[in-house]
Amino acid sequence: MTTDPTLAELVDKATATRTGPAYGHDALITCDRLVRVFSTDGVEVQALQGLDLLVRKGELMALVGASGSGKSTLMNILAGLDTPTAGAARVADHDLMAMTARDRLHYRRKVVGFIWQQTSRNLLPYLTAAQNVALPLQLAGGRRRSRARAERALELMELLQVADCRDRRPHEMSGGQQQRVAIAVALACDPAVLLADEPTGELDSHTAQQIFAAFRTANEELGTTIVIVTHDRAVATEVRRTVAIRDGRTSTEVLRRSEVDETTGHETLVAREYAMLDRAGRLQLPAEYTRALAMRDRVALDLEDDHITVWPDDSGHS
Ligand SMILES: Nc1ncnc2c1ncn2[C@@H]1O[C@H](COP(=O)(O)OP(=O)(O)OP(=O)(O)O)[C@@H](O)[C@H]1O
Ligand SMILES: [Mg+2]
Repeated sequence: MTTDPTLAELVDKATATRTGPAYGHDALITCDRLVRVFSTDGVEVQALQGLDLLVRKGELMALVGASGSGKSTLMNILAGLDTPTAGAARVADHDLMAMTARDRLHYRRKVVGFIWQQTSRNLLPYLTAAQNVALPLQLAGGRRRSRARAERALELMELLQVADCRDRRPHEMSGGQQQRVAIAVALACDPAVLLADEPTGELDSHTAQQIFAAFRTANEELGTTIVIVTHDRAVATEVRRTVAIRDGRTSTEVLRRSEVDETTGHETLVAREYAMLDRAGRLQLPAEYTRALAMRDRVALDLEDDHITVWPDDSGHS
């Protein structure tokens, strides 16, 4: 039996013809026109309004954006704690729209690791650091014996330089030590993705640097893909890719590449800001650019060999 294609199928087909393989086919995290609407007391809040984001395997990236722009909403969806209202989200071949309760539990235990801003929320207060790190391994089951679990826990704590805290309970550790143990807990089951929502929010800038170094170690030594939400400018400038979210959508992206100074041999990161171009060809121009040239409602475009020029509307019609 054949049925007429739905509008969505027609759009998908048109998109596929235009752009080749399916959107995000080679990405570890794919958010495709992700929407999350919260309804409380009859009031609707559109926290995510068609957000597109691709993250490749092995990336260490930062997400920034004003308060209320939708960062935590996105992280909670990626962590499997919340479900989107519409759109598609995939992480390491798991379709986040179509998970059963059982899949969700497996996903949260083995596929993603999560670190919260509140240090107290990441660790169980009555367990030592070593017991906290071994707990996810125990919950995940499998054949690992208690001794092997303890060894793995110690190995991770050594990697994150908190092995000396192994017999301490959270209240006997500094905030920075607690967050590094929290990273070890999140890494225990060798997740494909580590998600951290403002992990340095409660720490001073020096300690924040140490936490950031711990994420970098996890990324470089274990190859874990890491997404960090941060307000910390210093953290945001240390990663190669920073994506900004505005009103529930990705708006701009800064990519940094290293350049080596030929005389001094010093390596520095050179940044360039990009605007997002969605699959329908929509481009968001920065407000300061459009304001500077009084661009509104309509602009004129010229296609050149290697670029496109955008002109203010000079047609004289309004
Ligand atoms: N459970 C909820 N119920 C109702 N509204 C919510 C809920 N969670 C978030 N929101 C709303 O969704 C929007 C996005 O919130 P979100 O927490 O994702 O922002 P954020 O970017 O993380 O902000 P911040 O930087 O302050 O942490 C906000 O308007 C918020 O009030
Ligand atoms: Mg938040």
